[in-house]
Amino acid sequence: MKSIRFVALGGALALGLAACSGGGAGAGNDDESGAAADPSELTIGVAMPTETSERWIADGDAVKSQLEEAGYTVDLQYAADDIPTQSQQIDQMITKGADLLIVASIDGTALANQLQAAADAGIPVIAYDRLINGTENVDFYVTFDNYNVGVQQATSLLVGLGLLNADGTEGTATGPFNIELFAGSLDDNNAHFFYQGAMDTLQPYIDEGTLVVKSGQTDIEQVATLRWLQETAQKRMEDLLTSSYSDGSKVNGVLSPYDGISRGIITALQNAGYGATIDAGLPVVTGQDAEIASVKLIQDGTQFSTIFKDTRKLAEQAVISAESFLEGEEPEANDTESYDNGVKVVPSFLLESDIVYADNIQSLLIDSGYWTAEEVAAGQSD
Ligand code: BGC
Repeated sequence: MKSIRFVALGGALALGLAACSGGGAGAGNDDESGAAADPSELTIGVAMPTETSERWIADGDAVKSQLEEAGYTVDLQYAADDIPTQSQQIDQMITKGADLLIVASIDGTALANQLQAAADAGIPVIAYDRLINGTENVDFYVTFDNYNVGVQQATSLLVGLGLLNADGTEGTATGPFNIELFAGSLDDNNAHFFYQGAMDTLQPYIDEGTLVVKSGQTDIEQVATLRWLQETAQKRMEDLLTSSYSDGSKVNGVLSPYDGISRGIITALQNAGYGATIDAGLPVVTGQDAEIASVKLIQDGTQFSTIFKDTRKLAEQAVISAESFLEGEEPEANDTESYDNGVKVVPSFLLESDIVYADNIQSLLIDSGYWTAEEVAAGQSD
């Protein structure tokens, strides 16, 4: 994966920013004279959830390298998907004097104490990709349009089943089709947005009987996957096949919210004799993140689709927002309505995502330098 070169916002740090002293965005102004601190004197703490999913490694690398190019010192930490570990890492960043925090949380409700400490120390906090809930001390949110990601996942499922064409027009298939539904981790705010977007799209087809959820499991609590784990999804798919499809009926499609979950689902289906590829009888399975292993599966006709969220652009947006705070300004939001964290609506900057099918891997992922053709062929990053 190649990085997009980040062009630092020039000049502005040289301005005297007397207005930003005091709390919050005062972190960038630790000079008594009112001049903003040099980036080389500022440390940004970056808390990422886990290294088991390659998207977070890409996010961490992109945020770190772009911040370093802009001159900042970066303290990047991964928490192995363990909530106490992430809390401790953030505590330490604050104690060590971080000037700003960028946080992709594991459990979006578990960081209220840490963020209170950050606020008390005047440290701005940017929620990265996942909203942090239940606190007023989250200052900004950079993410993708998560509801629309869910719409895109469901749309690609409908395309795979032939009910829609990729251009949005009605397809020739009539159904009925058996589908099963998976959602992400309930403590991740995004999981709810993805599922809501997907279900708003699928519900009319379920209501008219074109889509049948044979297990009857449609509540997010029933279909969620704690920590987004592949093994957990594989086990649930195996259980669904036993409980709802041992009468000889077949699953035709599976809504999956994330590529790791998709691979667990596909393994369960292959082990149950559905065939190696979609042409050979494997159901249509969706995904998210354009992980390299899944992009190869899509190229090979095994997984049907994924959603591409360009982590380089998200990182760039996080850095732009961080610089705004450190210059004593409010970052520019493009959404001030959608993300209510239970205490306040957090000003947000939302990016767009794309549906990846086998026939646009080249244009979306290879031409943009996200993956090379060799990486796609190998199913592994260099
Ligand atoms: C992210 C997704 C990712 C999932 C699992 C979500 O919060 O938005 O991109 O697939 O977490 O890591």
